[in-house]
Amino acid sequence: MYMTQTAENKIPGETVLNEGMLQSLESLYCFHSGFKSCSALKKKMLKLSQQYSKSELLMLVSHLGNSHVYSRLPEITDALTNNETYFFRDEIQFDCLQQYLLPALFEQKLRSGDKTLRIWSAACSSGEEAYSLSMVVADFMLKKGLARLSHDGSLTLLEGWKVQICGSDINKRVIVKAKSAQYSASGLSSFRHFPQQFNIYIKKMPLNKESAKSFYRVNRSIQSLTAFEVFNLNSDELPLSLQRMDIVFCRNVMIYWHEETQARVLANIYKAMNKNAYLLMSAVDKMNQPRLFNEKRFKDHTVYLRR
Ligand SMILES: C[S@@+](CC[C@H](N)C(=O)[O-])C[C@H]1O[C@@H](n2cnc3c(N)ncnc32)[C@H](O)[C@@H]1O
Repeated sequence: MYMTQTAENKIPGETVLNEGMLQSLESLYCFHSGFKSCSALKKKMLKLSQQYSKSELLMLVSHLGNSHVYSRLPEITDALTNNETYFFRDEIQFDCLQQYLLPALFEQKLRSGDKTLRIWSAACSSGEEAYSLSMVVADFMLKKGLARLSHDGSLTLLEGWKVQICGSDINKRVIVKAKSAQYSASGLSSFRHFPQQFNIYIKKMPLNKESAKSFYRVNRSIQSLTAFEVFNLNSDELPLSLQRMDIVFCRNVMIYWHEETQARVLANIYKAMNKNAYLLMSAVDKMNQPRLFNEKRFKDHTVYLRR
């Protein structure tokens, strides 16, 4: 339930909404993104409503479903999504990728003569997960002699190999940040668990005089393996750019969705994957499509194998 129009939370100016209006706006957003209603979402929705004028909000809620409202969804989405992420967020999963999944995939691909590797970081936020994947793949290929790093830092894939790491997110702002490939090293930064061995793939930038913050940029070689696009996982259309995947990371996003959304998204991810491709989720995300995926254990880690 929304706490609106009380003396304590009265909003300055013409911005007070009634419960029904907030509820309608929230329902529209949940329908769009697949999110389930929760107190954190209600809090953010209330805060967001304070940024609009009452007349604008009235316009939004009285036109629910028409294109005017849809054109405002990016900013609503930006205010309501949690974009917390950092490089190499789950060490065990990246170890599992290096030790088991990549060796198995490369062997399988060599046998079949298919020299394209495609990995999808679905709900990638500002790109740290996708770039971590690119770094691990580049490192693996260098060690196996399937790639070469030049003095100027450029990476050449050898023997006809192609690697495509795709990152997607519903939030346009984080995708713009991902494409910029620049991350602040201040505070609780994106680099809080960054393994030293991958330092060769980032470069310190000159100190930003305005913010007095230091930034790092992901190397061009890693950028060249990685592409980003805005994509709502709660949609039925899967673009060509997000198909034929060998590995999918879909982490720390399912918890925000209704069970039906989780099932629909997992069915879509299944369609996006090659047979026997791997799906990795986080410990808080639940697999609710056991008919589509086999569980496979690698030491202490569970991976889902597409049937
Ligand atoms: C907490 S971040 C997780 C980022 C990264 N996967 C990780 O584990 O570090 C969750 C991301 O999911 C995105 N998201 C939420 N709903 C989505 C949807 N329906 N389609 C695509 N992305 C969505 C949010 O914008 C946010 O960037």
